[in-house]
Amino acid sequence: MHLSRALVIWCFSLAAVLSGSVVKAEDVHSYARLDQVSTPHLDLVLTVDFEARKLKGHATYTLQRHDDTNQIYLDSSELVIKRTEIRVNDQWLPTKFTLGDIHPSLGQELIVDIGSIADKVRIHYETTPTASGLQWLTPAQTAGKKHPFMFSQSQPIHARSWIPIQDSPALRLTYNATVTTPEGLLAVMSADNSLSEERSGEYHFAMPQPIPPYLIAIAAGDLAVKSISDNVAVFAEQYILDDAAWEFADTPAMIEATEAMYGPYRWDRYDLLILPPSFPFGGMENPRLSFITPTVVSGDRSLINLIAHELAHSWSGNLVTNASWRDLWINEGFTSYVENRIMESLFGKKRAQMELALGYQDLLANMERLEPQDTVLNIDLGTRHPDDVFSQVPYVKGQLFLVYLEEKFGRETFDKFLRKYFDDFAFQSISTAQFKTYLQRELLAKNPDAVSISKVNEWLHEPGLPADAPKPTSDAFAQVEKQMQRWLKGGQLQTEEWTTHEWLHFINNLPLDISAENMARLDREFNLTEIKNSEIAHAWLKLSIVKKYEPARERLRSYLLTIGRNKLVSPLYRELAKTPDNLKWAREVYEQAKPGYHPLTQTVNEALLYDKN
Ligand code: BES
Ligand code: ZN
Repeated sequence: MHLSRALVIWCFSLAAVLSGSVVKAEDVHSYARLDQVSTPHLDLVLTVDFEARKLKGHATYTLQRHDDTNQIYLDSSELVIKRTEIRVNDQWLPTKFTLGDIHPSLGQELIVDIGSIADKVRIHYETTPTASGLQWLTPAQTAGKKHPFMFSQSQPIHARSWIPIQDSPALRLTYNATVTTPEGLLAVMSADNSLSEERSGEYHFAMPQPIPPYLIAIAAGDLAVKSISDNVAVFAEQYILDDAAWEFADTPAMIEATEAMYGPYRWDRYDLLILPPSFPFGGMENPRLSFITPTVVSGDRSLINLIAHELAHSWSGNLVTNASWRDLWINEGFTSYVENRIMESLFGKKRAQMELALGYQDLLANMERLEPQDTVLNIDLGTRHPDDVFSQVPYVKGQLFLVYLEEKFGRETFDKFLRKYFDDFAFQSISTAQFKTYLQRELLAKNPDAVSISKVNEWLHEPGLPADAPKPTSDAFAQVEKQMQRWLKGGQLQTEEWTTHEWLHFINNLPLDISAENMARLDREFNLTEIKNSEIAHAWLKLSIVKKYEPARERLRSYLLTIGRNKLVSPLYRELAKTPDNLKWAREVYEQAKPGYHPLTQTVNEALLYDKN
């Protein structure tokens, strides 16, 4: 970092601490220098070229100058920059740009000369077929088989692989876009999508609320749309449209429940886009249009906490945003907490408690594999790629911290605090330090003796879980465990009342010395190898690897070949990589599956399958 820049930031931070106002956090994952010049608005013009697997066009930024610099620093990764222009006195003039060295996780800095009076800068560019933030699917890789499909996944730092941009969550910008696709295909964005049936091949979008760059999103394919209510619709390939609309019918009620707790939904419509099964996440909270994996369309509405989660981000994440990726828990911990409150509000305490307990078990298992320093909420990432450090910690430890505060201050007080938090920081990006200052002023100081600041520091800055952290359990799961003991001794399971949650708890907690005979008995009685529910199938297939239960092998193969959601596939590859025979088999399956996997799924699983030995 330049000394002058360090000084500016230090002075700014000091001034901010003294005045108690907004502190600008340093974001080591971006080359942008937001303290010099920022970009409050983007005009994007793109053509989707499926043959070349490229987006082609230009990005135009409105410049907001904060000092007398005559250069702008942007992030780029794998982009081909064609030429750059600036607008001076309403005239477009060519200008010079330079690209920096390639950094393995950050990409390249793009420096454009902007002189001293230009009010806009325009970058003409193309993406490359390996862009980390895009996936291109051939017609054969879609359900309809007739048309290709493409989509983006920008969070955390992949927006720069399809737009040259100041790619820091500390920036907020509005955008307009014009997108051209082959005729007959529909393009959608994290913006004001139209429900019209027309497929002209040219689409116009506006996102009038300022958002961080990682929330800019695009998809194009043979999409149909079906309304669930006045302000909620599902976009999907035809094969799954009706099923998805049925599965997610509770979405309008979820919006109402969240508004009742945390204030108005501020984004106008809330639509869902169902992606192909290769979508690498369960969901992504792209504003106005959450991106959703088809693997939660299970036919029994048992996995819709995912919708509660992505919707919750409309408050925690999209409205109040983490200022850097070190503060991811501010997005994901708050969202996991709000998600669980939505589930409680719609479906009651029993279900919410089971989901909390399952999350807690996942966290404990996950923490065993992590270095202690990577279990800190306000994590020190250095310049590691945030994707390489992705874990349950920001989610579930963050959530437990908020559950802890709720228990200590009482739900009524804590709800009021949270509601005010969303209002006070609406459309802002905040750091962990800022949150702590706010928490101290608005909650701790007003209710002395409930929680000390050193306890808060332990939650935010120490590894592991505090000794007095909540340890969520569920009565329903206690019943499952009792049944399990009887069943292991030859008794019958009473599963008529079981939901997906009880099954997950049962399978995940079976003793690892369970006999081959008992595995076969379970499968015979409940047909687990063939079960359609993607989460239960995942738990069963993982156990089948550990137990060398061969009858599940072919299902495991087809599962890995058809699903690309990383959370569902990587634990299976990780388990397979533990023995030489399984590793060999896994590599064969992986090579076959690879063309259908998203770049993120490829990177994570290749590290598991090839980087060892
Ligand atoms: N925003 C996240 C996905 C994400 C986080 C992408 C960090 C890249 C970096 C999304 O909201 C999410 O958390 N999805 C979860 C949902 C689950 C916790 C219900 C997922 O995909 O599994
Ligand atoms: Zn999330």
